[in-house]
Amino acid sequence: MIICVCKNVNSRQLKECLAKGMSLDDISEQMGLGTGCGRCLEYACRVVEKEAPLIARESAA
Ligand code: FES
Repeated sequence: MIICVCKNVNSRQLKECLAKGMSLDDISEQMGLGTGCGRCLEYACRVVEKEAPLIARESAA
């Protein structure tokens, strides 16, 4: 699913970046997420909040 239409960033790419330990700021800087109209940022933040605990659990296992 496309998260950022302006910069063509999809949810898989976002999750892969989070799994590498990148912050939303890092992802914005590297991929341009949220640097266009900015309408995707609220949803991107929700994905980060949802994925971060899962990633932390996976890396601790
Ligand atoms: S949809 Fe992400 S900046 Fe416009």
